[in-house]
Amino acid sequence: MRNPASVLNAGGIILSAIHMRLSINIDHIATLRQARRGDEPDPVSAAVLCELAGADGIVCHLREDRRHINDRDVRLLRQTIKTKLDLEMAATEEIISIALDVVPELVTLVPEKRRELTTEGGLNVAEQKQHLSKAIERFHAKNISVSLFVDPVKAQLDAAAEIHSDMIELHTGEYTNAKNENEQKKLLHTIRSIAEYGKKIGMGVNAGHGLNYQNVEAVAAIGAIDEMSIGHAVISRAALVGLDRAVREMAELVKHPLGR
Ligand code: PXP
Repeated sequence: MRNPASVLNAGGIILSAIHMRLSINIDHIATLRQARRGDEPDPVSAAVLCELAGADGIVCHLREDRRHINDRDVRLLRQTIKTKLDLEMAATEEIISIALDVVPELVTLVPEKRRELTTEGGLNVAEQKQHLSKAIERFHAKNISVSLFVDPVKAQLDAAAEIHSDMIELHTGEYTNAKNENEQKKLLHTIRSIAEYGKKIGMGVNAGHGLNYQNVEAVAAIGAIDEMSIGHAVISRAALVGLDRAVREMAELVKHPLGR
């Protein structure tokens, strides 16, 4: 679970990862599949390609409404992935039972609302310490590490540490939605100082949500962050940069069918 290329303090706590790790969220490959409720594109094939291209881990969110990733995907991903499976999920009994059965390397607990388009905010850990703490104990009993998705706020990190979460994932959504450069700078500063605080109290620090090719580097340069979790921007870009080849291949079949 630990980044081998990292700087440790005397107590063995990671102070900063030398190489930032990148996990790719493949939910939106499944979103595309669900548009036709068929078999393609298959998120399992996508995960293999992501790993071959250098991803350090694969993330998928098994939602209560199964709008994209489904139970079959999670089980096949478990069997296929060679790097690390991070199962993003709400801490509900149904999904906890599936996770305990599948045994991903990491679960990232997120708040989930049926009506939202994507995860809207971080967990209020302080408010549900008892519930989350019980879930964390169950995961730890199966050697599954736990990350809590939180807004970059000290009190949330303190609460996460108190209930023995292994790491937190800082919600970068406010930073990625900043209205202007000034606001973005301030929010970046907050992410940096909260990430450093996380390291100081001995937690692993991940970050993600809304990161894209324009805004990712400033966050990736923060030494206290171990890993970034990125989905929508990468899958969107894949659709565009892959379009040229996809059209050429179809044109070849249409214009020269059966080799004519
Ligand atoms: N981290 C968490 C906890 C998320 O809920 C999501 C969205 O599924 C991501 C990271 C990735 O966000 P995006 O798809 O905007 O890159």
